[in-house]
Amino acid sequence: MFHRGRRLRGAPHLRAMTRETRLDRAQLIMPYFVEEGGKSAGPAPIAAMPGQYRYSPDELVKALEQDARDGVAACLLFGIPSGKDPAGKGAYARDGVVQTALRKIKDKFPDLYLITDVCLCEYTDHGHCGLIGASGEVLNDESLELLARAALSHAEAGADMIAPSDMMDGRIAFIRNALDENGFTSTPIMAYSVKYASAYYGPFREAAASAPRFGDRKSYQMDPANRLEALREAAADIEEGADIIMVKPAGPCLDVIREVRDAFSAPLAAYQVSGEYALIRSAAELGRIDETAVILESLLGIKRAGADLIITYFTRDLLHRGLL
Ligand code: PBG
Ligand code: ZN
Repeated sequence: MFHRGRRLRGAPHLRAMTRETRLDRAQLIMPYFVEEGGKSAGPAPIAAMPGQYRYSPDELVKALEQDARDGVAACLLFGIPSGKDPAGKGAYARDGVVQTALRKIKDKFPDLYLITDVCLCEYTDHGHCGLIGASGEVLNDESLELLARAALSHAEAGADMIAPSDMMDGRIAFIRNALDENGFTSTPIMAYSVKYASAYYGPFREAAASAPRFGDRKSYQMDPANRLEALREAAADIEEGADIIMVKPAGPCLDVIREVRDAFSAPLAAYQVSGEYALIRSAAELGRIDETAVILESLLGIKRAGADLIITYFTRDLLHRGLL
């Protein structure tokens, strides 16, 4: 007698009945770039991310009409301000671009779930995620106050969930405290807990013009070589009050997703980042892969590794085409 594994693979229905992992549209989050001011020549295509756009707040409201109809249920908003400065003032301005977009979107689509990325790098002229000290170092504790102000300004403008991506130490505790003190005890935090200093963020930095002007992010984002450090970061963020933890990037870190899943009981998100998106899109444009099949397989792999939520730029397209 030998093992007849093929017995369960013989027919579509049987395969469906014994399938272990499924993608669920309720667990997909679509990122959007919202840009301040400028001409209204329509959404601006992002060259490094074919199929993605920078929207003005009004253009985004318009685009969301179709997307919400297609089934996009949750959005992750990134802001691109019209001007940048050393302290990233646009990140926590009451009338900043994300804050403005939040009010407009909430007004029109009260049921759309709005998550905001909280960081300074899109707003600082030096492009780092925190303030810069006298010798060019990225200051930790001094940056916390500004990050908390950004988070609070998002909550006040209608954000349903806050997602800090800066990787400063202590920011989850600091932001949780600021939200609680101002009555936002019910606003969850999704922490970019395990965020590697990854080359896969390249296209995003082009989209948001947020590449650091000097140095790199290695003094605050994690070394991709490290696995145990991921467990320490996740533990710290949960301890500090994170409701959902995240591993980023997703595809290159499937092992880490699995380890974090097995070590903690908090809901786990994984971010299929801009570089992962660009790789698949570019290969498809060259006709080298079956794009739809590769997209679905990449997402299934992330899910099988243990992610509950997946942030992916493919969300809109998959839903629009009725594939989920
Ligand atoms: C901001 C931020 C980045 C991403 C999410 N939030 C850029 C970075 O850290 O350099 C990357 C997302 C992507 O590549 O799709 N800190
Ligand atoms: Zn940042």
